[in-house]
Amino acid sequence: MIELIVLDFGSQYTQLVARRLREAGVYTEIYPYFTPAKDILAKKPKGLILSGGPASVYAKDAYRCASELFEANLPVLGICYGMQLLVDTFGGAVKPAKAQEFGKAHLELLEPHPLLEGVENASVVWMSHADKVESLPPDFKTLAKSANAPFCAIAHATKPLFGLQFHPEVVHSTQGAQILKNFALKICGCRPNWDMQAFVAQEIAKIQEQVGKDRILCAVSGGVDSSVVASLCYKAVGAQTEVVFVDHGLLRLGEKEQVVQMFADLKIPLHVVDASDLFLERLRGVSAPEEKRKIIGWTFIEVFEKKAKELEQGGKIKYLAQGTLYPDVIESVSVKGPSKVIKSHHNVGGLPERMDFVLLEPLRELFKDEVRALGAQLGLPEKMLKRHPFPGPGLAIRILGAVGYDSLELVRQADRIFIQALHEAKLYDSVWQAFCVLLNVRSVGVMGDNRTYDNTLALRAVCASDGMSAHFAPLPFEFLESVANQIINEVKGINRVVYDITSKPPGTIEWE
Ligand code: XMP
Repeated sequence: MIELIVLDFGSQYTQLVARRLREAGVYTEIYPYFTPAKDILAKKPKGLILSGGPASVYAKDAYRCASELFEANLPVLGICYGMQLLVDTFGGAVKPAKAQEFGKAHLELLEPHPLLEGVENASVVWMSHADKVESLPPDFKTLAKSANAPFCAIAHATKPLFGLQFHPEVVHSTQGAQILKNFALKICGCRPNWDMQAFVAQEIAKIQEQVGKDRILCAVSGGVDSSVVASLCYKAVGAQTEVVFVDHGLLRLGEKEQVVQMFADLKIPLHVVDASDLFLERLRGVSAPEEKRKIIGWTFIEVFEKKAKELEQGGKIKYLAQGTLYPDVIESVSVKGPSKVIKSHHNVGGLPERMDFVLLEPLRELFKDEVRALGAQLGLPEKMLKRHPFPGPGLAIRILGAVGYDSLELVRQADRIFIQALHEAKLYDSVWQAFCVLLNVRSVGVMGDNRTYDNTLALRAVCASDGMSAHFAPLPFEFLESVANQIINEVKGINRVVYDITSKPPGTIEWE
């Protein structure tokens, strides 16, 4: 049962609102702002939240939701743009702010209210607005203000209508989660009965209902997301799910064996397609990063398509399941336009345009840490749930320039040493991702009494929360020194190791 509905007006943070409510145990769904009122009301939510958004309410083509929603006597909480929409709808005034307000502000509480129960005076809230409420509509009162915003939190005197100028959903609003929880539990009377177990049951039921007797194809990479999706689909419709793992020859040491073992342990049948020779043949002599990515992308499609056809001998496969997460879609869905292409990311997302599949994306609304919690609920081993992300094009984008069997071997050996050392030093879980990059650079060294002229390897480790931005990891110098020594001593062909201290932006996490 849906407890709350968030209407999305295009904020980058919309999904975070739902996430905070999930953390409070309140089951929430998100719909575009233009969803007809009858469809929203038919779901019988106990309250509505209007998200922030990039538009201005006074613009001619401003985004507006159905006005009937305000007449249904449902509690409504408007956040940022959502609050300005409430103000505008009920007869107040919204104007461009003289001084835009971005970043931290301190909440000055003016009167006690259930919405702000448990919130301390002067607590930090996060502002991000260029427009400002100039005057409140009749019958609205101010619950809190800040130095730059005289109307920081507002409420109607008699109707259940509320507004917040700041973003309670971002972690920088230190007590924002409490405010959302107050709205859900104290004002809307929601039941806090949602948890990961409930999510599993709900997603399995959804997949069963949607898929019926049809078949699902699920490509797995051995990473957390696709493994969780495969496991969910298999739990939902069992052998109607065909799970395929393509070995493109660009994997790390022992990776294929680990994936095979994990699926065997999970008792999920796995089709392994060994296409490594084909990929390496196609990549021979190719050194431009985008060209490498594209070759890997379309070769993957070709191999996958061939396997799909083979599997279709047993009956048509209607669905393609994939592990798209919320950060993957944040810039391309919602009410905004698509973002710029920085790199052609290779994943099975490229498939549907060319293949006749209906997409199943059960993780679309989740963040990485939620997927890990979901994986734990499904019984996936902890070791795999904590694995660092690994890109679809694999080691090919960690070898600058042309890729060959020898360079792959070098980077595999070095990577094994680096990752093992991180585990031993208990540093592995403290970084988002760590790996080696074989640079297309040779330099002179001296080992024993002999001159060497060998390869340079870069170690890369970053801290991030979703991979969209990252900071290089401040690994201890002694640790780096010891890893560098071990690599130079044990991996013949590498005589110099450097550490990458670039953050993202301006760098990207991978080098290509
Ligand atoms: P960048 O290099 O864009 O990487 O800063 C951000 C995150 O995405 C991963 N990555 C990929 N993942 N297919 C994937 O599935 C790709 O083509 C790809 N390229 C980069 C990267 O490892 C990091 O976690």
